[in-house]
Amino acid sequence: MRPLADKFGRAINYLRISVTDRCNLRCTYCMPAEGIALKTHAEILSYEEIVEICQTAVGLGINKIRLTGGEPLVRRDICELVSGIAKIPGLQDLALTTNGVHLKALAFNLKKAGLRRVNISLDSLDPLKYQRITRGGNLSDVLQGIEAALAAGLAPVKINIVLQSGFNDDEVEAFMSYAARLGIKLQFIRQMSLSQGKPAVPADNVCTRPPDCRQCNRIRLTADGKFKPCLFSDLEIDARTVGAERALRLAVEGKPEAGQACYKREMVQIGG
Ligand code: 5AD
Ligand code: SF4
Repeated sequence: MRPLADKFGRAINYLRISVTDRCNLRCTYCMPAEGIALKTHAEILSYEEIVEICQTAVGLGINKIRLTGGEPLVRRDICELVSGIAKIPGLQDLALTTNGVHLKALAFNLKKAGLRRVNISLDSLDPLKYQRITRGGNLSDVLQGIEAALAAGLAPVKINIVLQSGFNDDEVEAFMSYAARLGIKLQFIRQMSLSQGKPAVPADNVCTRPPDCRQCNRIRLTADGKFKPCLFSDLEIDARTVGAERALRLAVEGKPEAGQACYKREMVQIGG
């Protein structure tokens, strides 16, 4: 299958789907303190719609799908969606980004449903700092979730750490030894502001995210059915209005050479 290509010659084979705009945490860099206006049930894509869109996307050359949120594991019966997507012939990789709080309960069933791997957001190994950055989260839930993911055979398990100077940049070594002990991988992420635009390509060796725009192979789908060519763009194309194939093609066509800024949505509505 020849992948979709954009105007700048980039092959687009990776679709990130926000399955809900809800989250059980309130990370300071992701969610405004006052929360966000949640979409109604009718606005949010049903599982049938998402699976259908994925079938179309895989037919057009998407071979890697990641489910994100909000927090994907707060959406009811998420394993049913995973199993519907995992069955699509031609899909090579199905991953999920989660805060890990519900993984202890769900890891085994997610694996059984066909999920291959997980990225777990964890910004501090200190319970009080973790509680502060997530506005109330409980570190031990996540640590147990990570162990459950490993026990379930989801592999590789990766930890996403948004590095914030003066907050957790003193924990890089602690994270490295934690990761070595458990046999998991770390992804240090530069903190981004959607409205201020994309941070320059990482100049240091610590942060490997966000990726260089020149290497970007991604396209996004919001929980309310809009294809988005870039995190840092306000262009959105509604799959319900124009149909999934046309919406995906238009989004790929409209993918900017480099990210600019996004004012329409908060990070929690796109899923990082
Ligand atoms: N900057 C960088 N990464 C972010 N994420 C959420 N908000 C931001 C931000 N402002 C990422 C987190 C999380 C994923 C869901 O999105 O790393 O793991
Ligand atoms: Fe929720 Fe993840 Fe955003 Fe934190 S980073 S508020 S866990 S969606």
